[in-house]
Amino acid sequence: MWVTLCSIDDVPDEDVHEVVREGHVYCAYRLSGSHYVTDGLCTHGVARLCEGFVLDDIIECPMHNGRFHIPTGRVDGPPACEALRTYAVRVEGKALQIRLEP
Ligand code: FES
Repeated sequence: MWVTLCSIDDVPDEDVHEVVREGHVYCAYRLSGSHYVTDGLCTHGVARLCEGFVLDDIIECPMHNGRFHIPTGRVDGPPACEALRTYAVRVEGKALQIRLEP
C-alpha cells in the first residue's frame, strides 16, 4: 500500500528531511530532482541520519561517519556494516509517497 510521508516541498534539494510516521523514522531526499526514502536511523547505532551529511548520493552518519548509498541503501563506508532499508517512492501531486508492505 502507498502512504503519504510528506510534501515534496518539505524536502530540500540535495539534502535530507526527517519524517516520523507512526513511530517509524524515515529520511526523504531529493537528489538531482529524484526522490528517495530510506530508514532514518543508522543501522550501526541509534543515530538520526537527518543530522548527518548528504554528499552527492551518500548519507554520512553524524555519530561515527558510517556511509550509505541513498538510492540502494548499501553500505559505502565503515563502521556501518548492515545496509539501510530503502523504499519504493512515487509522487502524487505534491505528496511524496512510499510503498509499505502490508
Ligand atoms: S551510529 Fe552510525 S556509524 Fe555508528
